[in-house]
Amino acid sequence: MESMEEIVAREVGADGLAAMVAAFYRQVRTDDVLGPMYPDQDWEGSEKRLREFLQFRFLGMEAYTENRGHPRLRMRHFPFVIGERESARWVQLMETAMDECTVSPEARAVMSPFFAQVAEFLRNHPR
Ligand code: HEM
Repeated sequence: MESMEEIVAREVGADGLAAMVAAFYRQVRTDDVLGPMYPDQDWEGSEKRLREFLQFRFLGMEAYTENRGHPRLRMRHFPFVIGERESARWVQLMETAMDECTVSPEARAVMSPFFAQVAEFLRNHPR
């Protein structure tokens, strides 16, 4: 059976992931819940980190680990209070980004659960 990585590589690719992350951050910037959480308002830097992380996770591209080392996402999210509201909003904005980029149903079927699971895993606050 084809893996999640193979499906994303075929259906989305590096440029597709980049477009999704750009569409995601366009919304985050002005989002009432997530916008204020990004400390330095370093939007280009934030966009680059998420883009390179996803290109690493799905496509094995090395820029993320070269720049940031091991992802350690849970540790890197500890400075931010992430409860149900923050997690749900992150997923909602990424779903809207995938709508905007007309991600194929096949890629959607593997990426939506991935994002939902990671967002849940990153929760560090009960509410
Ligand atoms: C659950 C809700 C989430 C919230 C509220 C959140 C918030 C944040 C914030 C405030 C930052 C720091 C700003 C920055 O470094 O640019 C960050 C960094 C990051 N987030 Fe999230 N995030 C969430 C979920 C996710 C998910 C689901 C993923 C991956 C699928 C992810 C991947 C990343 C990555 C790769 C970084 C940069 C890490 C680094 O190299 O420093 N985040 N996030």
